[in-house]
Amino acid sequence: MPKPTPTSRKAATREPGEFAIAILAAGQGTRLKSQRAKVLHEIAGKPLLAHIVAAAARVVSPQNIFAVIGCQAEPVRQALAPTGINFVLQPEQRGTGHALMVAQEALQNFESVLVLSGDVPLIQPETIARVRDFHLANRAAMTILTAEPVDPTGDGRVLRKLKKGRETDEVERIVEQKALRGREAARREVNSGIYAFATKPLYKYIGKLTTNNPHHEFYLTDMAQHLCKAGEKVIAVRAQDSSEVLGVNTRLELAQLDARLRDKKARELMDAGVTIFRPDTCDIDADVQIGPDTVIEPFVQLIGNTKIGANCRIRSYSVITNSIIGDRVMLRPGCILEDSVVHDEAQLGPYSHLRPGSDIGEGAHIGNFVETKKARLGRGSKANHLAYLGDAEIGDAVNIGAGTITCNYDGVNKHQTVIDDGAFIGSDATLVAPVRVGRGAYVGAASCITDDVPADALAIGRGRQVTKEGWAAERRAKLRAARKGSE
Ligand code: UD1
Ligand code: CA
Repeated sequence: MPKPTPTSRKAATREPGEFAIAILAAGQGTRLKSQRAKVLHEIAGKPLLAHIVAAAARVVSPQNIFAVIGCQAEPVRQALAPTGINFVLQPEQRGTGHALMVAQEALQNFESVLVLSGDVPLIQPETIARVRDFHLANRAAMTILTAEPVDPTGDGRVLRKLKKGRETDEVERIVEQKALRGREAARREVNSGIYAFATKPLYKYIGKLTTNNPHHEFYLTDMAQHLCKAGEKVIAVRAQDSSEVLGVNTRLELAQLDARLRDKKARELMDAGVTIFRPDTCDIDADVQIGPDTVIEPFVQLIGNTKIGANCRIRSYSVITNSIIGDRVMLRPGCILEDSVVHDEAQLGPYSHLRPGSDIGEGAHIGNFVETKKARLGRGSKANHLAYLGDAEIGDAVNIGAGTITCNYDGVNKHQTVIDDGAFIGSDATLVAPVRVGRGAYVGAASCITDDVPADALAIGRGRQVTKEGWAAERRAKLRAARKGSE
């Protein structure tokens, strides 16, 4: 994770009780046409809400963050519980204003509350801190973060007060798209859905909100005019980068923001010394870490908490999920890794499949069509072709021949195979677990090993070969004679 900026560090040291962040995340997101809550939809491999919580947690401590949840409340709570934030339930979603009404008890003892929208996920901690600072410096009752996007359609417009024909910091009201009248429609400054409030005036006047609008909802945006009428100060501050306040309302916007974040991620990695030849073809999640001089070839997916060391080469079509890869590792094309660890200088693929719990030792080789699961391979061990190694503890410098299989499952339970250092497993061996092959032992090719093999022994477990001299020639002669007889 990048280091907190000086502003956010300053923010984090403020007295608790002074400043809270509320994240409005209860809505269903009708326009996504989904069974799932909108805020759990992912961009760059993380739920929308997780991006926002991460930004908020750089400004205040998690105990000062309150997510208002409602639609699919339990899955949302579960997904975010590890962050240590608080949750407020809004059982019925009656609008953004209503969301803050139900959060009154949780928020009213803070002096100020900054409101973030659960569907505006690119917001940066620096911007949150800027809104807070502008709000506090101006002693405002409400501060609105605004933007001027190329196409403002769909968003609420912020109408500023004019003084001698020039706009001021002060705002008169916010008008939702559907309520725009006449020249208001030409206004390009939109409401980002991000605000700071002084909690006293907020909760003094929140009762003035009504549902007298096309959606029959309590609009938080109406607080601007109610506060203004009450003589309270309502101001606006423009976002420096309007793309930070882009919202997700549709699947198209979800894809656009995902692409934007991945593009940014790839740039950051390239700036840090990673070669990515066709970044537009790679999917690299937000939390992935990669060391310098590693080369990422086209069409690679790096998912979740994956960490890759320096000087590696990740060849095309590899998909790596929640895995840790050391330095100078070579992944040939088409490797699939999940919840696994690969140590320095190991070589994998093409087409190796590391399932959860695989641990590939330093300099080890895993070759084509080799599948591993809960398997540890020691230093310099090799399984180069066509093998299944599951529930296996394999030492250093072990050679696993082509086609070897650990028979780990008896239909009810899983059992362990142990292969000690320096053992040599011939091709096409089946190792029926639980079983142990001792240090330096040999297993003959095509053996079915059901009993432990002591160190330095040779075990052969296969049918004996029977050779019948001249059998084939005799057969051919018989067939020829039979054919002649029938002519
Ligand atoms: C809102 C603003 C609009 C602004 C836009 C920017 C209102 C009335 N309008 O519109 O001016 O330009 O955001 O993105 O606020 N939510 C709840 N509980 C509810 C309703 C909504 O928690 O009862 C949450 C949603 O989950 C969402 C956020 O509030 O995360 C915003 O709601 P949404 O319905 O998306 O508002 P917009 O129509 O986008
Ligand atoms: Ca929205």
